[in-house]
Amino acid sequence: MGVTSPLKGPTRSRSFTTKLLPYVLYASFSIALCRFYFHFFPFLVSNRIILTSSSSSSPSPSPPSLSFFREEETAYETPCNYTNGRWVHDKMGPLYNGTTCGTIKDGQNCISHGRADLGYLYWRWQPNQCQLPRFDPNTFFNLVSNKHIAFVGDSMARNQWESLLCMLATASNPNPIYTNGEDNKFRTWHFDSHNVTVSVYWSPFLVRGVEKSKDGPDHNELYVDVVDDRWGSDLDHLDTVVLSVGHWFLHPAVYYEGGSVLGCHYCPGLNHTEIGFYGVMRKAIKTALETIIERKMGSGCGIDVFLTSFSPSHFEGEWDKAGACPKTEPYKEGEKMVEGMDADMRSIAVEEIEAAKVNAKQFGRLRLEILDVTKLSLMRRDGHPGPYMYRFPFADGVREHVQNDCVHWCLPGPIDTWNQIMLHVIRRWRGGE
Ligand SMILES: *[C@@H]1O[C@H](CO)[C@@H](O)[C@H](O)[C@H]1NC(C)=O
Ligand SMILES: *[C@@H]1O[C@H](CO)[C@@H](O)[C@H](O)[C@H]1NC(C)=O
Ligand SMILES: *[C@@H]1O[C@H](CO)[C@@H](O)[C@H](O)[C@H]1NC(C)=O
Ligand SMILES: *[C@@H]1O[C@H](CO)[C@@H](O)[C@H](O)[C@H]1NC(C)=O
Repeated sequence: MGVTSPLKGPTRSRSFTTKLLPYVLYASFSIALCRFYFHFFPFLVSNRIILTSSSSSSPSPSPPSLSFFREEETAYETPCNYTNGRWVHDKMGPLYNGTTCGTIKDGQNCISHGRADLGYLYWRWQPNQCQLPRFDPNTFFNLVSNKHIAFVGDSMARNQWESLLCMLATASNPNPIYTNGEDNKFRTWHFDSHNVTVSVYWSPFLVRGVEKSKDGPDHNELYVDVVDDRWGSDLDHLDTVVLSVGHWFLHPAVYYEGGSVLGCHYCPGLNHTEIGFYGVMRKAIKTALETIIERKMGSGCGIDVFLTSFSPSHFEGEWDKAGACPKTEPYKEGEKMVEGMDADMRSIAVEEIEAAKVNAKQFGRLRLEILDVTKLSLMRRDGHPGPYMYRFPFADGVREHVQNDCVHWCLPGPIDTWNQIMLHVIRRWRGGE
């Protein structure tokens, strides 16, 4: 794909500067006290009645038939495979709206930008093997009280962070305590009620990188064996890390390892060997996971690590020729397979997290899990901002060329499900302690 990355438009990558941002560490952050980490038992949720839809994935607009399910305690003890399933109608809709938390990035605040079809808000993911409960902010707070959760990665990490923040904001007021960087790429919010810190770190490669810029190189430079210090230096203070990268690896780049050039991706004229980006992304993820394990294994405090798998984009036609994502309904079960680049990117994440699990096994207190969202996200061709990345894009009538964002997700939207799954995993971990 190279230069034709769809991210070029929506994220305006040319404007990203290469400034290394100074870091402020908060005195208030923990000095790695383990707190309740391994002693904290969540209330066991037994026989809680949840409302669930038993309708098929039929896209008919009729209300789903509703039935009551009894959730068994064991639901949290058995790992669930969230990978495969189907989207079913859910008349309950999202937890929040565009004004609940006040932090939704403009380009993803679809409803406030005039998106009028709202059917995309009324679906929930039904894994084949288990029941995925609706996100409950209070459950989340109780599980992570006194902890710091950091989202690290590119704009998808930010998208997921904002989703979590908005869902949590329905139960407690968040206070912004730190922002830095162009477009607020580094932000920390605190929920005083439960002493929960939720932050986002811009780090589109996880490893050290110099992003292309007007005044700097016209390609990215990646140092695949060194973790990006912008988040690495805070690692001691983090209790949960959610890593999310992918799309930025498609851009032209020169790769370094051990002080010498490893190769490049799409760098005509630079006399480096083209090595593609898959192997490099694998190395970057490996470096990140290994660094976390090394740094945390001695601390006695442990850490929970999630790696969000690749989130597919949905440009129909050429992205640069008014490529758009106009569909208003998800794919039906079996209609769309994970294949090609989406499948390769996903596999790398799945394989690296599995390798890291083996690696970490000898040191307790390190828990790693994939958030395997590739398939469920691929099915949600209807969940992107599309033209509504801009405010009222059709206010002057339908123009021929409207830029579309078919990469990021509307908030609220399908990306809320990613955090729903994360909560479900954390709950199982705590319950199984
Ligand atoms: C609040 O949480 C932080 C970790 O995010 C911890 O270091 C600190 O001790 C907690 N404060 C209280 C009063 O428990
Ligand atoms: C979940 O299912 C997918 C697809 O069937 C499979 O590739 C994956 O290994 C499973 N994950 C786990 C943790 O069993
Ligand atoms: C949005 O949600 C808030 C509560 O979070 C509510 O007070 C408000 O009425 C909602 N706005 C709309 C337009 O639904
Ligand atoms: C390109 O790289 C090769 C191998 O490193 C070297 O032998 C050659 O001189 C280089 N060519 C130019 C034009 O720099």
